[in-house]
Amino acid sequence: MNRILLLMVAVATAAGLGAQKPVAQPANKMTAFVNALMAKMTVDEKIGQLNLLNPGGGVATGAVVSSGVESKIKSGGVGALFGIIGVDKIRQAQQLAVSSSRLKIPMIFGSDVIHGYKTTFPVPLALSCSWDLAMIERSARLAAEEATADGLSWVYSPMVDIARDPRWGRVVEGAGEDTYLGSKIAAAMVKGYQGNDLAANNTVMACVKHFALYGAAEAGRDYNSVDMSRLKMYETYLPPYRAAIDAGAGSVMTSFNDIDGIPASGNKWLMTDLLRKQWGFKGFVVTDYTAINEMVDHGVGDLQVASALALKAGVDMDMVGEGFLTTLKKSLQQGKVTQRQIDDGCRRVLEAKYKLGLFEDPFRYCDSSRTQREVLSADKRTAAREFGARSCVLLKNNNQTLPLKKSGTIALIGPLANNKSNMLGTWAVSGEPQLSVPVLDGMRSVGGSGVNILYAKGANITDDTALAKKVNVFGVRADVDSLSPDQLLTQALEVAGRADVIVAVVGEASEMSGEAASRSDISLPVNQQRLLQALAKTGKPLVVVLMNGRPLILNMEAELATSLLDVWFQGHEAGNAIADVLFGNYNPSGKLTMTFPRNVGQIPIYYNHKNTGRPQGAGPTQKFRSNYLDVSNEPLFPFGFGLSYTTFSYSEIKLNRTSMRAADQLQLRVTLSNTGQFDGEEVVQLYLHDEYASITQPVKKLKAFQKIRLQAGESKDIVFNLTVDDLKFVGSDLKPIYEPGNFTVFVGGNSRDLKQAKFVLVP
Ligand code: NOJ
Repeated sequence: MNRILLLMVAVATAAGLGAQKPVAQPANKMTAFVNALMAKMTVDEKIGQLNLLNPGGGVATGAVVSSGVESKIKSGGVGALFGIIGVDKIRQAQQLAVSSSRLKIPMIFGSDVIHGYKTTFPVPLALSCSWDLAMIERSARLAAEEATADGLSWVYSPMVDIARDPRWGRVVEGAGEDTYLGSKIAAAMVKGYQGNDLAANNTVMACVKHFALYGAAEAGRDYNSVDMSRLKMYETYLPPYRAAIDAGAGSVMTSFNDIDGIPASGNKWLMTDLLRKQWGFKGFVVTDYTAINEMVDHGVGDLQVASALALKAGVDMDMVGEGFLTTLKKSLQQGKVTQRQIDDGCRRVLEAKYKLGLFEDPFRYCDSSRTQREVLSADKRTAAREFGARSCVLLKNNNQTLPLKKSGTIALIGPLANNKSNMLGTWAVSGEPQLSVPVLDGMRSVGGSGVNILYAKGANITDDTALAKKVNVFGVRADVDSLSPDQLLTQALEVAGRADVIVAVVGEASEMSGEAASRSDISLPVNQQRLLQALAKTGKPLVVVLMNGRPLILNMEAELATSLLDVWFQGHEAGNAIADVLFGNYNPSGKLTMTFPRNVGQIPIYYNHKNTGRPQGAGPTQKFRSNYLDVSNEPLFPFGFGLSYTTFSYSEIKLNRTSMRAADQLQLRVTLSNTGQFDGEEVVQLYLHDEYASITQPVKKLKAFQKIRLQAGESKDIVFNLTVDDLKFVGSDLKPIYEPGNFTVFVGGNSRDLKQAKFVLVP
């Protein structure tokens, strides 16, 4: 036995912790440190480490806030805090922990850093539309730098829930509907946040959420039940969480829904068997906000029962609910939980603190000289502008109306055209809306003096005052103008009458998507529809700029618009980034990561559905086929879709072989040509279909993509190398398998318009 081990045995024996055996192998430094510390801890102090509180004062992210926080910290009853902003406050709270609590254990300080910290970047769904993994990683890196310069060391991101129901407001927080792309983005974000060294003072611990399947809430209603087959879980919903874990995510947050009838926060299969045993996760699990308490409403039992269930399932930290704090000791005394279970949770929390370097220096992230230099710094705003431009998706562009000329007269109209309060989008808890650049300012500055820009509001975001009240919870997002709707419209038409082209900036208020912002009708508010109809009647070119946190129903708008640009919610640099795109300083390259339905009845709608035994087939609705009487099966805009100011063409696919064995590599080559007038980027997408398999397979699955930049007139050979790993699917034993047989490979610029080739995998 080495010295450390001897010491640990001595400490453990002295503390009377017979059950806590020191590890048999020579302990590494962290284990030795944590063992020695735990040997000194009382049961109450150990339970205290499992407690995460929110003292309030910031933007509310849940229905309750914690009370008596100061005395709880002093008594060793708090492991971590979130919801407090700024080095001074964080330093003060940390000081309490490391000077007034008996064992002086530092706390972790977390926050919802979702799309940037104080400098707000485009919402995650927007970023995903860039299909630019390096950029997405950089957005997380910059957010980590800024957050750590302001005292934080833990972020509640990435949100990797696959989402196929745009009624669910939280689709805005994720990467859309696709498993492959979602997994790549999950890993990129973890890398961006955590870097190579968690203890560095500019990296944060990521928290992948919401584990698991939260995006599949029934009817798109937030917090609703989830029920799905294991096959679908393993094939479609679980891989992005797994990718984040494999990338080293230090923590995991549970989801609010149940899975197989057991709430996620009390689900042992999920957190112990799958996450820890199968996936080898070594970090800690935190619940979502009061999720243990909510298990009472789920019907598992009272708070003591729910808390014990959560601990035994593998939860290490209780967010805000204080179920652990108030009931675990009693459960221990009654034999309902074991000391070992409490110790396991405590150990994992202490290990996280160790990895973050907090024991070495509890004030590691409290360097106010960094705050001055790095928070809201110019480089971050420059990045926000670039990210914004690269996230826009051009959905229509007739007559090359875009890019706009930097001359003549433009009528800039719409409730979101000269607005700061909605630019950040939801979940910008530390972002200051007033620092946003409105579209009007961006257009004036990018357009320059040669262009005359006239402005009119034209309409409220909504005339529905009941809806406005609901979306104004964090400040006024949807105001009701002192002018009547008719007066607003008259002004807009007057301004439009004097212009060469109309740019209408319309959409959702930022809080019409996000948490607890489900909508059963995902159309544009009717008063904005009326505005667009009136503007279209002028006969002038109508560019519609759409701000939204989810796919919307846009049949009429897409018909009326000459050009349609989806800009989502872009963050602080919205106006500049949008103007960069509208005036052609940046040629849009975004592609949709969620399908846009034609009506709500088509939902759930996603590109990689299965075929059914009676597929729709070509042509109109047919009897005894899988189709609707009243709408086609096709979406309005498919997954992967997005135009450019230039045009791209694809050659036929060339394969290096049409028959491959498991050990072979299949090389696929297409020539991509920029056939238009502008330099531009194209996301070349590769999909696969397995024709016959023991498990029914989707019509296509994204398997690879490359974002390629080509000058006008340039062509380039794009090469993809596929191996048998790309041909795998989840078999009936839930393990990835491949099966010999025929495959179709598709390549193109969206999931609908594709070149195809066939090959066979031979045994
Ligand atoms: C509830 C949300 O579901 C979660 O995403 C968030 O991180 C927590 N609240 C903390 O604010």
